[in-house]
Amino acid sequence: MTYSLLCSSVFIFLFATFAWAASASNDEYPKAFMQCLISHSSNSTSMSELIYTPKNSSYAPILQVSINNLRFMTAKTPKPLVIFTPVEESQVQTIIFCSKKFDMHVRVRSGGHDFEGFGQSYVARVPFVLLDMTNLRTVMVNVKDGTAWVESGATIGELYCGIAEKSGALGFPAGLWTNVGIGGFISGGGYGMMTRNYGLAADNVIDARFVNVNGTILSRETMGEDLFWAIRGGGGSSFGVVLSWKIKLVSVPEIVTVFRIVRTSEENAADIFHRWQEVAPRFPKDLDLKCYVQSIVSNSSTRQDGKTIRITFESLYLGPRDRLLVLIRERFPELGLEAEDCSEMSWIESGPFFSNHTAGTSPDIMLNRTALPKFNFKGKSDFARNIIPREAIKGMWEMLFSVAPEAALLQFTPYGGRMNEILESAIPFPHRAGTLYMIYIGVFLEKDASQRLKWIDSLYEYLRPYVSRNPRAAYVNYLDLDLGNNTSSSWGKRYFKSNFRRLMQVKTVADPENFFWHEQSIPTLPA
Ligand SMILES: Cc1cc2nc3c(=O)[nH]c(=O)nc-3n(C[C@H](O)[C@H](O)[C@H](O)COP(=O)(O)OP(=O)(O)OC[C@H]3O[C@@H](n4cnc5c(N)ncnc54)[C@H](O)[C@@H]3O)c2cc1C
Ligand SMILES: *[C@@H]1O[C@H](CO)[C@@H](O)[C@H](O)[C@H]1NC(C)=O
Ligand SMILES: *[C@@H]1O[C@H](CO)[C@@H](O)[C@H](O)[C@H]1NC(C)=O
Ligand SMILES: *[C@@H]1O[C@H](CO)[C@@H](O)[C@H](O)[C@H]1NC(C)=O
Ligand SMILES: *[C@@H]1O[C@H](CO)[C@@H](O)[C@H](O)[C@H]1NC(C)=O
Ligand SMILES: *[C@@H]1O[C@H](CO)[C@@H](O)[C@H](O)[C@H]1NC(C)=O
Ligand SMILES: *[C@@H]1O[C@H](CO)[C@@H](O)[C@H](O)[C@H]1NC(C)=O
Ligand SMILES: *[C@@H]1O[C@H](CO)[C@@H](O)[C@H](O)[C@H]1NC(C)=O
Ligand SMILES: *[C@@H]1O[C@H](CO)[C@@H](O)[C@H](O)[C@H]1NC(C)=O
Repeated sequence: MTYSLLCSSVFIFLFATFAWAASASNDEYPKAFMQCLISHSSNSTSMSELIYTPKNSSYAPILQVSINNLRFMTAKTPKPLVIFTPVEESQVQTIIFCSKKFDMHVRVRSGGHDFEGFGQSYVARVPFVLLDMTNLRTVMVNVKDGTAWVESGATIGELYCGIAEKSGALGFPAGLWTNVGIGGFISGGGYGMMTRNYGLAADNVIDARFVNVNGTILSRETMGEDLFWAIRGGGGSSFGVVLSWKIKLVSVPEIVTVFRIVRTSEENAADIFHRWQEVAPRFPKDLDLKCYVQSIVSNSSTRQDGKTIRITFESLYLGPRDRLLVLIRERFPELGLEAEDCSEMSWIESGPFFSNHTAGTSPDIMLNRTALPKFNFKGKSDFARNIIPREAIKGMWEMLFSVAPEAALLQFTPYGGRMNEILESAIPFPHRAGTLYMIYIGVFLEKDASQRLKWIDSLYEYLRPYVSRNPRAAYVNYLDLDLGNNTSSSWGKRYFKSNFRRLMQVKTVADPENFFWHEQSIPTLPA
């Protein structure tokens, strides 16, 4: 692409500032900014086709299709002045170049799953434009090298299907929910059912294409190892825009085994959970056994209110059923796993199984970005480094009984295995050796929102003695504004531990004027 001198002339700049001020006040089309975009684009026809202002009938559907947390799909949610949907890398360069020039605040969105809506500036009370990456979604697999280039706008499901189309022996350790965007997911680390065997998605990135604050495209070689380190787990959009990632694919066996079984209070759920904490982080790497906990109403309840605790155990084993059964019976007989609970399938068929689709759904469903339900939720994260004692498990259950059945969801993801072998400083994601499991705490907010938000705070407080401390850790892909905003940086150590300082150093070099900011973006170092 070529940047003509025209746009940097003082005359144009003043004109633009004036036009922008005028348009901001009456919510009109920011004309000079648009002119910058069109005049700097190598193909002005196609550029003008990527611009959606609120007057365009496609604006609302394009905005809404990728809003994946319904908490941010309300009339009051701040909306972008313009949405861009680039189809070429050079258009991203132009958008960043002109946005910087006209001081337009930019938010970048890939899959739109951000817990706090940062990818769309729903919470920032400043005018902004939305750079929507969904059209940049190519997956290019190189079977011979065992690598792939995946563009940010692709979903996890598109990546999985792209790999499986080329090879049944290769896979990638990405996430469970298959319409999460690769752009945000890998930027924050990214765990899934193969993390114990292969580490995080970000641990398996070997190169990237990246647009910096000047609108320049950088590769690993030209950005340098510091910036390349920072974008693999340092959280999305503190440094610039990731166009694509080059990833190292991993081998998957022809047959994997999955199961999902349910245990309730009446079936000793508390004891089984207690034991799970001891065994799950120590299983062989090729076995991942996570669990979900909810209070539900059940006719088997022995309580007056008819409620019980339901634990759903969900597992992926990278091998055949017989071996899985031997393993579980030897190490975790309390679970009572039976052969008929288990299904053998190919790795790609396990994708829909772990992503809220009904059993047996064809993997093609993962190509449909709108096939999954959307929730209105608030989520928080935590990490356990010690076993939670039985009394505290009972206390946690009591708290679950105090909200409406199924209003809350806890999720426990075992660590160990490969996660123990990777240094805390290898990439910004620091929660490694010594972490037994990650905890997700969530509430659904379609009803009783303020009461449920209070409840989630009280459960978080209740868990304090039993979980990580100094700092009380959190997962940056489960962004949580309760931890603070850009008026302080106390949240930094909680997501990144001692990596936070290096992140600030990288930020200070890569984006000294803090063009790419959001409510919890990495701050620059004080001068
Ligand atoms: C239902 C659900 C299931 C989930 N499952 C998992 C899971 O299994 N494993 C896991 O690890 N996490 C999971 N997550 C968390 C998920 O990884 C994060 O929410 C992630 O940030 C979402 O990325 P996105 O691209 O979909 O979201 P977006 O909202 O588009 O982006 C998230 C953040 O990244 C930034 N960003 C997006 N694209 C780019 C880019 N190209 N360049 C620079 N910055 C960018 C955005 O500005 C924003 O700050 C889940 C979340 C939800 C809601
Ligand atoms: C400009 O983009 C349009 C639409 O993508 C395409 O049809 C056209 O061929 C392009 N023109 C040039 C000169 O590249
Ligand atoms: C909406 O925007 C698209 C892309 O820029 C354009 O092709 C279309 O004509 C616009 N429609 C309206 C109603 O403005
Ligand atoms: C309890 O519910 C299950 C399924 O929901 C049903 O199969 C069973 O018959 C019920 N038992 C009683 C005693 O109502
Ligand atoms: C999908 O998730 C919802 C909400 O947790 C749950 O009620 C439903 O049973 C799930 N569906 C499948 C097929 O897993
Ligand atoms: C994707 O899923 C949605 C919801 O189930 C459905 O309405 C839509 O038709 C599907 N799209 C395609 C292309 O199959
Ligand atoms: C930022 O955090 C401070 C301190 O908690 C709070 O007073 C303020 O309202 C927050 N600002 C925003 C924009 O959330
Ligand atoms: C902090 O966030 C506010 C909006 O909440 C924004 O106006 C301000 O520019 C941000 N400051 C920094 C340093 O990121
Ligand atoms: C951006 O460009 C300016 C002016 O050419 C230069 O001084 C600066 O170092 C560049 N910034 C980055 C992060 O490359």
